[in-house]
Amino acid sequence: MEFFEVVKKRRSIRRYQKKKVPKECVEKILEAAFYSPSSRNRRPWHFVVVDEEGLIKKLAQTRPALEFLETAPLAIVVCGDEEISSAWVFDASIAAEHIQLAATALGLGACWGHVLDRMHNEERSAEDYVRELLGITDHIRILCVIGIGYPAEEKSKHSEKEVMWERVHWNGFGHNL
Ligand SMILES: Cc1cc2nc3c(=O)[nH]c(=O)nc-3n(C[C@H](O)[C@H](O)[C@H](O)COP(=O)(O)O)c2cc1C
Repeated sequence: MEFFEVVKKRRSIRRYQKKKVPKECVEKILEAAFYSPSSRNRRPWHFVVVDEEGLIKKLAQTRPALEFLETAPLAIVVCGDEEISSAWVFDASIAAEHIQLAATALGLGACWGHVLDRMHNEERSAEDYVRELLGITDHIRILCVIGIGYPAEEKSKHSEKEVMWERVHWNGFGHNL
């Protein structure tokens, strides 16, 4: 699929078919993640791939915004090592988007479930909940969980109407074409 077709086709897909994601696709997606740019080329990423149904169901309980993971056959937890880079959030965010675009290009659907700076309940952060569930070391920070699977919902492609030309400023703020 051509690049502009992929970026238009990518939507947040939150319902998935029961079908497993083939290992070759998982590897392609991770490969794309490792091609991401990163600050000072520090490459601080860690990805925890989860395909065990029980674990995915527990990830879905991280916070209400992650409940969509319930039907996902695959989840990738996107992390960054804060000891390697203070820019780990930016680097992990870019990798998360590469993951979503790669999934789209492979005919899969994906959605970002946010973890960082969110709460699991009144006492516990969403990050601590996921950390404990998957045994993630302290200095490895957790940005989000990307749910991936064959789509069980159809969404329209992005369209040119969404392009906010008035937010584009040429050679100085407020100068729109
Ligand atoms: C930083 C970030 C956090 C997000 N967190 C969640 C989330 O926790 N749960 C969820 O269902 N969608 C989440 N999304 C997906 C957005 O809701 C979605 O991208 C937005 O509504 C636009 O829709 P589209 O992705 O289909 O274009 C998140 C997206 C981003 C970029």
